[in-house]
Amino acid sequence: RKAKMSIIIERYKEKVSALPKNSIDHHLCMYEGFWYFHGFWYNSKADFSVEAVMTLQDEFQARPTNVFLASYPKTGTTWLKALSFAILNRNKFKTPIGSNPTHPLLTVSPHDCVPFLESESFLNNPSYASGLMATHIPYTSLPKSIINSNCLMVYVCRNPKDALTSVWHFFNMLKDDVSTPLKLDDAFELFSKGMTPYGSFWDHVMGYYKASLERPDKVLFLKYEDLKKDPWNEVKKLAKFIGNPFTQDEEYDGSVQKIIDLCSFENLSKVNKDGKQTAKASSDDIYFRKGIVGDSVNYLTSDMIQILDKITEQKFADLKISF
Ligand code: A3P
Repeated sequence: RKAKMSIIIERYKEKVSALPKNSIDHHLCMYEGFWYFHGFWYNSKADFSVEAVMTLQDEFQARPTNVFLASYPKTGTTWLKALSFAILNRNKFKTPIGSNPTHPLLTVSPHDCVPFLESESFLNNPSYASGLMATHIPYTSLPKSIINSNCLMVYVCRNPKDALTSVWHFFNMLKDDVSTPLKLDDAFELFSKGMTPYGSFWDHVMGYYKASLERPDKVLFLKYEDLKKDPWNEVKKLAKFIGNPFTQDEEYDGSVQKIIDLCSFENLSKVNKDGKQTAKASSDDIYFRKGIVGDSVNYLTSDMIQILDKITEQKFADLKISF
């Protein structure tokens, strides 16, 4: 693993050293308008690193049959992975909870079912590209072959206040016990300035939102809040878009509901938390915190909320995105 990452770091050393560095967080550098970590820094999480994006831009060949699930970190990626995987594989693995304990989502993490394009395991072994892939790369920086191959893309987005709350908790969960936790004030400062891995939340959302308007048959834009409020219709919309619509029979026989239940926060967090204890699942419980809408009010100050609402209003003024 180290060798491959070292080769990648070495290959892009000059290019990365020429990138603007962040004055607040010196681990961040600006690439194509978005901030990223570099040098595979941060708990060796390859999927945060700008070198991974550069490698993919240079090497990745999408196939027209690939379906990409895109998102800004902490906006519902895990849920979207689980739902899409369950929908596309519903004939291979029957979905009733309990009656088929062999369903992958009952034994491993959704992240094991749908790999991240920019993850270490994919960079190490690109040949395992499955039909369904996920990415946090901003739309304008995607490897060109994804757009040129006309691949289907589904983007999930979430209220920025909840996204920040989730990002802040996640960073602290990733940290080892001895390092100082990231303060909410600092997380807020960085997030509101767009200085977090994968850059500005608002610019990230806008890139995919505009793409969904320009190429509606290729890019579907979903919201975490809608999935929570009306999972039945959102899941049907998702299934139809990714080319696997539910039949009328399936709607009546409970197939849609079974997928919603299988992928629910309650079920998946249980699988992944239990998995940690039994070493069955891959200890991905940090991806399951609360899974609710509006948790930000329990953490953010009213000043923070006001500032974030203002940024959202300004940035999304011309777009019909509301939360
Ligand atoms: P919270 O931190 O607010 O609880 P991502 O998957 O993009 O990393 O986002 C993680 C967020 O989605 C976390 O939000 C997590 O709890 C929530 N989440 C994970 N799985 C979910 C599910 N099946 N249903 C609803 N929310 C889920």
